[in-house]
Amino acid sequence: MFETRPLNGAFGVEITGGLDVLTPLTPAQIAEIDRLMDENALVLIRNQPMDVDQQLTWTRQFGPLDQGFKKVIAKGSTPQKYDEVGDISNLSKDGQVAARTDKRILNNIANQLWHSDSSFQKPAAKYSMLHSVRNPSWGGETEYTDLRAAYDALPDRMKDFLDGKIAEHFALHSRFLLGDDSYSTEQIAAIPPAHWPVVRENPATGRKHLFIGVHARSIEGMTVPEGRMILMDLLEHATQPQFIYRHEWEVGDTLIWDNRQTLHRGRHYDLDEPRELRRTTTLDDRAPELEMAS
Ligand code: OGA
Ligand code: MN
Repeated sequence: MFETRPLNGAFGVEITGGLDVLTPLTPAQIAEIDRLMDENALVLIRNQPMDVDQQLTWTRQFGPLDQGFKKVIAKGSTPQKYDEVGDISNLSKDGQVAARTDKRILNNIANQLWHSDSSFQKPAAKYSMLHSVRNPSWGGETEYTDLRAAYDALPDRMKDFLDGKIAEHFALHSRFLLGDDSYSTEQIAAIPPAHWPVVRENPATGRKHLFIGVHARSIEGMTVPEGRMILMDLLEHATQPQFIYRHEWEVGDTLIWDNRQTLHRGRHYDLDEPRELRRTTTLDDRAPELEMAS
């Protein structure tokens, strides 16, 4: 139905023909993109610029939308007129590059830690769709790692050990790591952590994958240091070069990733140069784990 080719990296696919993001999709086309996502975890569409409303319309075809971080701490703090749109830029409301002390710069830097969007909430994010509007002259790539291949490559002893283990994911853990502790006890208490198995399975393919990242801060039934060290070891394992695709942005790119089967991080760039991307995200409201207690 679509023409595709593999991305130049460990995984992912580009749709090179047969798709126009501004034309409503047929049910068969949606099913085909879901299939490509289940199998490849990353789908790239190049050179198809969208404005905010077009991107929302496009994304809604794949399910209900997620508000992620905005819902927990940053509500109303960005220039976007929609809560469902993540402004992944270093620009303030006046369109100028934001001051270093601006929260959005902290958010930009936090995005440079390996993570799965909204893993700190239940339901978490399913597809993130990041659309490129403006790029800095160097840096600012986004990297993705394949958590299926990373799981497959674990030693059997580790796979056995991880079987049934549950991790706690907390929205502010990444902020604390970056030295931002400007939250009151009430604010912290108002954000409940979410619990997810460390090893999950994609219900559509039956394939197992790790589910980790910077929001994961402890493992149930283990001391914090022991669990956290395992999470750090797993992250180091999962982010080896053989599991990675690195995306160099061009204006008009949309990269869709599966937040279940991948982690991602932004790469360093000169924060004085404008960088502007826009993210819309669907909610994984059919995850089998939603049946479990929180
Ligand atoms: C995101 C994100 C990384 C980047 O949009 O969710 O983490 O490269 N972006 O900006
Ligand atoms: Mn992200």
